[in-house]
Amino acid sequence: MKYDIKNIKLASNGKRRIEWAAKDMPVLDLIKKRFNKEKTLKKIKMAACLHVTAETANLMRTLQSGGADVVLCASNPLSTQDDVAASLVKDYGIPVYAKCGENRKTYYAHLKAALIHQPVITMDDGADLLSLLHTEYKSWAKNIFGSLEETTTGVIRLRALERENKLIVPIIAVNDAKTKNLFDNRYGTGQSTIDGIIRATDILLAGKNVVVAGYGWCGRGLATRARGMGAKVIITEVDEIKAIEAAMDGFAVMTMVEAARIGDLFCTLTGDIKVIRAEHFRLMKDGAIICNSGHFDVEIDLPALKKTATRVRKNVRNFVDEYVLEVKSNLPAGKAGKSKVKSIYLLGEGRLINLAAAEGHPASVMDMSFSTQALAAEFVVKNKNKFSPKVYNVPITIEKQVAKFKLKSMGINIDKLTEEQEKYLASWEIGT
Ligand SMILES: NC(=O)c1ccc[n+]([C@@H]2O[C@H](COP(=O)([O-])OP(=O)(O)OC[C@H]3O[C@@H](n4cnc5c(N)ncnc54)[C@H](O)[C@@H]3O)[C@@H](O)[C@H]2O)c1
Repeated sequence: MKYDIKNIKLASNGKRRIEWAAKDMPVLDLIKKRFNKEKTLKKIKMAACLHVTAETANLMRTLQSGGADVVLCASNPLSTQDDVAASLVKDYGIPVYAKCGENRKTYYAHLKAALIHQPVITMDDGADLLSLLHTEYKSWAKNIFGSLEETTTGVIRLRALERENKLIVPIIAVNDAKTKNLFDNRYGTGQSTIDGIIRATDILLAGKNVVVAGYGWCGRGLATRARGMGAKVIITEVDEIKAIEAAMDGFAVMTMVEAARIGDLFCTLTGDIKVIRAEHFRLMKDGAIICNSGHFDVEIDLPALKKTATRVRKNVRNFVDEYVLEVKSNLPAGKAGKSKVKSIYLLGEGRLINLAAAEGHPASVMDMSFSTQALAAEFVVKNKNKFSPKVYNVPITIEKQVAKFKLKSMGINIDKLTEEQEKYLASWEIGT
C-alpha cells in the first residue's frame, strides 16, 4: 500500500483518538453498521480531500465498511493530525497522503496522489481536488459519478464554475444541507475557533473587545460563544441584512476601520479576501491579536502585514508570530519623540485557527456533517447515471434521516402532526 505520512509509529495514539471520537458519532455508527451489511459502496474508488482528523477517520471507516476503496489527503497543510493519519494507514489499511506542516509542493503532490487512485467519487473541503479535475486531471473527470463538497468556500467556487458553464462534474453541495451548516458551521466553528484561540494564546476572553468579521453561520457561532464567555463582541459585515440581524442580536456593528482601533482580538470568518488590511493594521492597538477561521488563508492580508512590519518574530509561542510595526507620532515635525513600536500577534499563520491550533470541530457535530456525507455518497452511487454537471442539493430525505437519528441518539422525542394538522397546513380555505 502506498501512502505518505509523518510517522507510522504515532498510530497507537491516533487509534485512541479515533475511538474516542467514534463514541460521539452515533449516527455515523448506525450508517456504518448498515453499510457493512449492504455493501452499497462495494469496489467504489473514492478520493477524499478533507481535514485529516479523528472525525474524518471515522467517516473513512464508514465508507470502507460499505466496501469503498478509499484514499485520503489533507484539505489544509496545517490541519493534519499525524497520529490519526498513521492509525488510518496501520490499523485500518486506508492510504493517507498528508503531513502536518507540509509545504505547498507536497500539499499538491498529495492531492495528485489521491487522484492517481482513479476515484469515481471525490470528497472535497474547499474544492481543491475538483479544481485539479478541471485543469491538470481534466481527462479523468468524465469518470466521476459525483463529487461532494463540504464547505461554504468550496460551494461558492463550484457555483462560480457552474455559472460560467465550465463545470464538468456533478456536485452535491453537502455544505448547503441544514444538517451540515446549521450545526457544523455554527456550533462546531463557534466552539472550536474559541478552543484554537485559547490553546494558542491562553488569553482570558472576559472583558475583551472581540471583533468578528462576517455574521454568517460561522461568525454567528463564534460571536455567540465569545459573548457567553464575557467578551464584548463587535461584528463587521458587508451584507445589510446580516448587519441588522447582528445589531438586533445585541452586538455592536461597525466598519473594520472603526473596530480596528478598539479590538483586542480579531477573527475573520467571511470566505472573502483581504478583510483585514494594511489600513487596519496601522490603526490597531499594541498587542492586538489577529486570526482567521474562514477556509483559506487570504482573509487577513498577510503580504501587507509582512510589508507593514519592521520585524517579525516567529513562534513567540506555539502558533503565535509577532509582527512589530513602527507607529508614527502625531506630534508636529521636529517635536516627535522617540518613534514607538507596537506588536500585532498573528495566530496559526492566518490559517483556520480551529484546525491549526486545536482539533477542529467536536465529534458530536461532525457526526451530522459526515453522516450527511456518507449518505450523499451512497445516493450518488445509487443514482450514478442520473446526474449532469450541475450543483445539486442533498435530498431532503437524507437531511431528515440524519436529523431523526441524531434526535434519537440525544434521547429527544418530538411531536407528530395530527392528520387534521397536516390537512390544515396543506390547505388555503380555512381562515378567520
Ligand atoms: N473553521 C472551520 O472549521 C470552518 C467550518 C465551516 C466553514 N468554514 C469557512 O468559513 C467561512 C465562512 O463560512 P459561513 O458558512 O459562515 O459563510 P456565510 O456565507 O454563511 O457567511 C459569510 C459572511 O461573511 C460576510 N462577509 C463577506 N465579506 C465580508 C467582508 N469583507 N467583511 C465582513 N463580512 C464579510 C458575508 O456577508 C456573510 O454574511 C467560509 O470560508 C467557510 O468555508 C470554516
